[in-house]
Amino acid sequence: MSLAETSYVRIHPLPVRVTHWINALAILVMVLSGWRIYNASPLFGFRFPNDWTLGGWLGGAIQWHFAAMWLLAVNGLVYLCYGVLSGHFRRKMLPVTPTAVLREVGQALRGRLAHDDLTVYNAAQRAAYLAAIALAVLLILSGLVIWKPVQFQGLGMLMGDFEGARFVHFFAMSALVFFVVVHVVMVALVPRTFPSMLTGRIRARAKGE
Ligand code: HEM
Repeated sequence: MSLAETSYVRIHPLPVRVTHWINALAILVMVLSGWRIYNASPLFGFRFPNDWTLGGWLGGAIQWHFAAMWLLAVNGLVYLCYGVLSGHFRRKMLPVTPTAVLREVGQALRGRLAHDDLTVYNAAQRAAYLAAIALAVLLILSGLVIWKPVQFQGLGMLMGDFEGARFVHFFAMSALVFFVVVHVVMVALVPRTFPSMLTGRIRARAKGE
């Protein structure tokens, strides 16, 4: 097929790509500055190495955390509204059944997970993306309780008040960091997926290809 004849299939709409990369940046800033804030008053018997953190000191880290918080909240809301209203979530992330997820996670662990057709997400991806979205929502809600414990008292009661919300925030962060590590490894294993998240499209397969 000559270059002029090459046809493409659009797989990632523009709003998904733009919000994905802004979210990735906001989450990176939130995690690195969050580790510095954690170091000022650790919940457990360890601290994150200062070289892996952002902000230089507690006050600086809080400023980074709050700046990225607005970016994540506004951009995340745009992504969620687009995903629901355009039918993107329904088309690409549903249905997702526990049986299919378990089967495909098993295949992934044995290095046999197929992702040949980039136009659809497999069950493991669907579950992982939905979990990442839920974790980001939980991080924002627990963050609100830590930030304004009096104003968000009702929400705080669901999480074990201020102290409980700190644990919820920490464990949700750990799970999201775990997702990001696995996500980036999977992208490295199927590198064709990466340019499509920038351009939005993949080359259409010719008949018999
Ligand atoms: C930091 C936090 C990140 C989060 C929370 C995140 C989350 C997501 C989500 C929810 C999707 C599905 C998007 C949709 O269709 O609505 C996705 C897709 C994707 N992400 Fe990320 N991502 C992150 C970072 C990254 C990074 C650093 C890379 C690159 C190395 C990356 C590469 C991709 C690619 C290539 C896809 C499309 C996968 C495919 O078509 O099979 N993501 N990501």
